[in-house]
Amino acid sequence: MKEQVNRRTFLTQTAALGAGLTILKPGILKAGNSPNEKLNIAAIGVGGRGADDLNEVKNENIVALCDVSETNLAAAAKKFPQAKTYSDWRKCLDQKDIDAVVCATTDHTHAFVNVWAMNRGKHVYCEKPIANSVQEARIVRETYLE
Ligand SMILES: NC(=O)c1ccc[n+]([C@@H]2O[C@H](COP(=O)([O-])OP(=O)(O)OC[C@H]3O[C@@H](n4cnc5c(N)ncnc54)[C@H](O)[C@@H]3O)[C@@H](O)[C@H]2O)c1
Repeated sequence: MKEQVNRRTFLTQTAALGAGLTILKPGILKAGNSPNEKLNIAAIGVGGRGADDLNEVKNENIVALCDVSETNLAAAAKKFPQAKTYSDWRKCLDQKDIDAVVCATTDHTHAFVNVWAMNRGKHVYCEKPIANSVQEARIVRETYLE
């Protein structure tokens, strides 16, 4: 994983995405000195909102795309042909070069994607809600704080 990433740019871009949640592991993102330093991003859920989110981070390196819908995945892959494609987000998160994940799947998957991504050292932007229950939300928080 890249050690040098541009924190300001990532925060600016993810803030522009709207009402989602940005989860950043403290102390990991560092200000980049070169304009060539970009985040390697995986987009999980690339349909409606996910397509908009992808557009907001299109200037980063989009290295992975994941969706259970072949139609939505194909549409995203057409825009980002260099990205690897997945139908299973667990396999997507095993891709080693991913710095950050943008998650816009359906609500009931958010907590799982968040926790798996953070457990693999990846930063996460996730559409709301963070989780589907208080118990799930607590697990996401605990994973963030670990
Ligand atoms: N649409 C909005 O304006 C809006 C605004 C704020 C937040 N959100 C949130 O964004 C999320 C997505 O909303 P949407 O309107 O784009 O929904 P959507 O159903 O149009 O898109 C969800 C996408 O995720 C894919 N997906 C579903 N389960 C998946 C899985 N297990 N693995 C991989 N891909 C999977 C679907 O195939 C689809 O492409 C929701 O959690 C929603 O609450 C949406």
